[in-house]
Amino acid sequence: MSRPEKETMTVRHHILITGASSGIGAALAAYYARPGVLLTLWGRNEERLENTASIARKKGAAVETLCIDLTQADKALAALIKADDECPVDILILSAGMADIRPHNALAESAETALRMSMVNFATPVAMATEMANRMAERRRGRIALMGSVASFHDLPLATVYSGSKAGIGRFSTALRAAMDPYNVRVCLIAPGFIDTPMSQRLDGEQAFLVPVDKAARKIARSINAGRAVLVFPWVFQLTRLLEMLLPRPIAHRILRRLDVMQHPEG
Ligand SMILES: NC(=O)c1ccc[n+]([C@@H]2O[C@H](COP(=O)([O-])OP(=O)(O)OC[C@H]3O[C@@H](n4cnc5c(N)ncnc54)[C@H](OP(=O)(O)O)[C@@H]3O)[C@@H](O)[C@H]2O)c1
Repeated sequence: MSRPEKETMTVRHHILITGASSGIGAALAAYYARPGVLLTLWGRNEERLENTASIARKKGAAVETLCIDLTQADKALAALIKADDECPVDILILSAGMADIRPHNALAESAETALRMSMVNFATPVAMATEMANRMAERRRGRIALMGSVASFHDLPLATVYSGSKAGIGRFSTALRAAMDPYNVRVCLIAPGFIDTPMSQRLDGEQAFLVPVDKAARKIARSINAGRAVLVFPWVFQLTRLLEMLLPRPIAHRILRRLDVMQHPEG
């Protein structure tokens, strides 16, 4: 398939990244930026998104940006279809996500937070991934990366919606992987522990085995490029997952109820 010229450059790879205005998405944009690459970068905050775009342009990539709120799934789908029609997407990285811990004096998150988080962390990325999987399968090539979390391995009383939405993404991702493998479309689930980004910096207290964001981006990109099904890192979280599977659930819950983490509001 011939590709259009973007910003006077011939595009060899088109990579679309959501959540590119911050953290892991921004670091992945910087990682992939080079001549011959078109980066379509999505985020909400225009200034931060432009900052990522300018770093990528300096490294020789062609860049298009879109400020979009992923609670609006219809708009996101329409924008995805437009971007793919203009230049077929080779790699779709669905990094955008929100984390919320229940307020200190509450028993659970609010219904409003639950709805928003379900859209941003689950419903919209699932809709985008299925649309793109169908398109990539026709072309018999492509990569889709979905951002899960090690939080999905545990029944977290402080973050029921976050751990639930990430568990949903995890199962969706491996199921879509099974559906798409025969069509040379590789679906990758990324399940990180603590990565040093604005999201983790909002949490009070020590974050075990914190990984610098650039190191995490390299690891994630290598996994996507290799077409790996699941990346869980740091490896120690494989052990905590196993431990929770082995423990009787009431005992695990008693331990997990003791977790006391505070989260600062979004800046
Ligand atoms: N950091 C960690 O320790 C960690 C661990 C496990 C999994 N993860 C997952 O990794 C992904 C990236 O997180 P991060 O650490 O890079 O966090 P981050 O620095 O807070 O970045 C989150 C990104 O998601 C975007 N986003 C949030 N709500 C959105 C919405 N309603 N519509 C559109 N975009 C929205 C943000 O856009 P704006 O900034 O423009 O608002 C930002 O670009 C998330 O899915 C997160 O759950 C992170």
